[in-house]
Amino acid sequence: MVWASRGRNVASRKGHSVGEETLQAGTGSAPSASESAVAADTRTARARASLPLQAASAFRRALAAHGVRGFLSQIPHYFSEVAFDLRYGVRTSGQLLMDGGADYEFDYDPIEPRRFRDAFRAFGIPTNQTFVDFGCGKGRPLILAGNYGFPRVRGVEIVPEWCADAERNLSRWQRRSGRSCDVEVVLSDARTYEIRPDETVFFFFNPFPADVLRAVVTNIENSLEQQPRNAWVVYANPLHRHSVFSDARWELAGELSGADHHSFVLYRPRGNERAVAPEREPVFAR
Ligand SMILES: C[S@@+](CC[C@H](N)C(=O)[O-])C[C@H]1O[C@@H](n2cnc3c(N)ncnc32)[C@H](O)[C@@H]1O
Repeated sequence: MVWASRGRNVASRKGHSVGEETLQAGTGSAPSASESAVAADTRTARARASLPLQAASAFRRALAAHGVRGFLSQIPHYFSEVAFDLRYGVRTSGQLLMDGGADYEFDYDPIEPRRFRDAFRAFGIPTNQTFVDFGCGKGRPLILAGNYGFPRVRGVEIVPEWCADAERNLSRWQRRSGRSCDVEVVLSDARTYEIRPDETVFFFFNPFPADVLRAVVTNIENSLEQQPRNAWVVYANPLHRHSVFSDARWELAGELSGADHHSFVLYRPRGNERAVAPEREPVFAR
């Protein structure tokens, strides 16, 4: 097991399945990881760099990845990330790689707060919904979704350490912001996560390779078939959109293009007779 930094939004290449376990935000407890090979490895290999070291390594990474000019253009984004963490007393920044050798590999690369906010505002998704982030990492999108106004936010994450980080971050955010949103982080492989009938907004920041995404989207399709309801899929950095979201089942209801992996597409289910018609015209912007 190696912890390393990585500066890109990449779907994991090696699969690994863990059982499902629910963590309630605010308990401060790490997941029981005895059955999980991922957890056993991560416990022994976990190493936390101090904030100045993290900042220095982020600086080096950014220079190497973007060059001097590119780096300068990235400065506002870095500030927006740092400002987000400072504002809520959370630690969601930085890119990480969880390398389990031949068995699995997972990347953590958080969504940019400003771009998440812009996309949700542009798409105009109604707020009285339950939001789910598949591959929630340290929980940044859950905080953003709570701030947007969703009363229930859930995260599904396969790496126990990041689940525990998400839980800690969410309880800090709730203390700081005073938001009384219903929050849940579930330790699970997204493929085996059972979609619940109240879940209506499904978010992906390019967390998976196509086969894993297809399995999760099939679970969503089955759930919508069994319990027809209004639903939205927001897919950021949508690399596998064409191979996974078939025209027969999904209608493209919005698209926002953006730099640095921050394009967004919005899908709505087709043929969902009990679903309410979209409240807004489709959104397409460059
Ligand atoms: C690109 S990061 C996105 C983090 C978060 N959604 C965000 O936008 O800030 C992808 C996350 O998906 C998780 N992941 C990858 N494969 C998974 C799987 N099969 N089940 C659940 N989570 C998974 C990774 O561990 C990582 O935390």
